[in-house]
Amino acid sequence: MSTNPAIASLQPERQALKIPDHIGVIMDGNGRWANARGLRRSEGHRAGVQAVRRIVELCISYKVRCLTLFSFSSENWRRPPDEINFIFGLLRRFVSSDLNRLVAANVRIRIIGERAGLESGLRAIIEEVEAKSAANTGLDLVVAFNYGAKAEIVSAVRQIAGKVATGEISPDEIDEALLDGHIYTHGLPDPDLIVRTSGEMRLSNFLLWQSAYAELVFVEEAWPDFDEAVFLKVLRTYSERDRRFGGIAS
Ligand code: IPE
Ligand code: IPE
Ligand code: MG
Repeated sequence: MSTNPAIASLQPERQALKIPDHIGVIMDGNGRWANARGLRRSEGHRAGVQAVRRIVELCISYKVRCLTLFSFSSENWRRPPDEINFIFGLLRRFVSSDLNRLVAANVRIRIIGERAGLESGLRAIIEEVEAKSAANTGLDLVVAFNYGAKAEIVSAVRQIAGKVATGEISPDEIDEALLDGHIYTHGLPDPDLIVRTSGEMRLSNFLLWQSAYAELVFVEEAWPDFDEAVFLKVLRTYSERDRRFGGIAS
């Protein structure tokens, strides 16, 4: 992409960067971004969608295999109904317009999270987009919506317990790979990098199982300000990390 000439001139540096296979993003700070500009929180969410479009293009351009975006948590139901409705409206539009365009661009889409809480119209569009893109071979785009990692683990454990109860598997067959096979992100690599914007340093119930060995990078910029310069800063930080996985320095 590199529309910015200053960034295009960083081409040699770009080649030296380590590119994670899977990036997870906690897109935080929309509300504060808007408040700081005297705008309503909803304007921050609207600007956040533009940043989503940017990071998807950046991941395609930098050949990241998989991108998971945290867009609504199971705890976000604690927000005022007006804000929740606004976010759902944005998601509905994003799923029906942007995602369809991305399907045509060879992006494979998966929406993770609890579907039972979503209205049937939205569920149907999500299922259609996933089915249409299932054979795509480009970027794996995972949207975590109505997602909570603890609920995801509970749901996997419940499915496994059901199989034990019917005798399909025995308790000693339960291992990490089996649990991996029952979580929403089954078949995708674990995230190498988790990024959170807006200066908050916590995971807020995002990909707890999958991020056991992820590098965590926190940036001060609010999500609506996420652009190629911030993306490069994050990749630079990630590239400098020594991932030891319990071993010794490389
Ligand atoms: C992230 O921005 C978007 C969602 C959680 C849906 P916030 O809405 O959390 O913005 P802040 O953290 O209040 O600034
Ligand atoms: C996490 O952000 C959820 C998303 C980015 C969708 P929050 O703003 O909801 O997290 P907390 O409440 O500050 O931990
Ligand atoms: Mg927040």
